Amino acid sequence: MHLGIISGSVFGTADLVADEAATHCEAAGLQVTRIKQPTVDTLVGAAVDALLVVCSTTGMGEIPDSLMPFYLEMQERFPLLTGVPFGVIALGDAGYGDTFCQGGQQVRELLQELQASEAIAMLELDASETVTPETDALPWLDEFISHLKSA
Ligand SMILES: Cc1cc2nc3c(=O)[nH]c(=O)nc-3n(C[C@H](O)[C@H](O)[C@H](O)COP(=O)(O)O)c2cc1C
Repeated sequence: MHLGIISGSVFGTADLVADEAATHCEAAGLQVTRIKQPTVDTLVGAAVDALLVVCSTTGMGEIPDSLMPFYLEMQERFPLLTGVPFGVIALGDAGYGDTFCQGGQQVRELLQELQASEAIAMLELDASETVTPETDALPWLDEFISHLKSA
């Protein structure tokens, strides 16, 4: 099982969570490619079997600038990911109310439109509740990994 891991971050938290997730997934026996500046071509070229996206939220529910070019290119070129299992870890702050974790939510909806298959429900990490999102994500990651291994 070859997992591609992509992140979108403003201040680096989501990047850190993605880096720690890569280490954790490798230790669990998955082949991992951390795709740092994703494009549709690098994603397709990496030939991954599954996808993990870690994405924070900025503005009023927006995707960080670091992931926006990829998101827009995916919308424009619409590479079908039929049946590819994916998971999203969304970072946000519940203090933003209705736009809580909407960056990750937008990524999730796009992957569903591309016919990828959500392995387990999106994890929402609330910055107003935790200062260690990279370790808080580990139980969710274990569930994600076991889902991928049984797929
Ligand atoms: C200017 C700004 C706008 C934000 N807007 C939202 C938002 O609309 N919804 C949300 O859930 N979190 C929002 N956040 C919170 C961040 O998503 C959260 O702090 C996250 O952990 C940052 O991760 P990063 O370091 O990877 O960018 C905002 C933070 C900042 C500084």
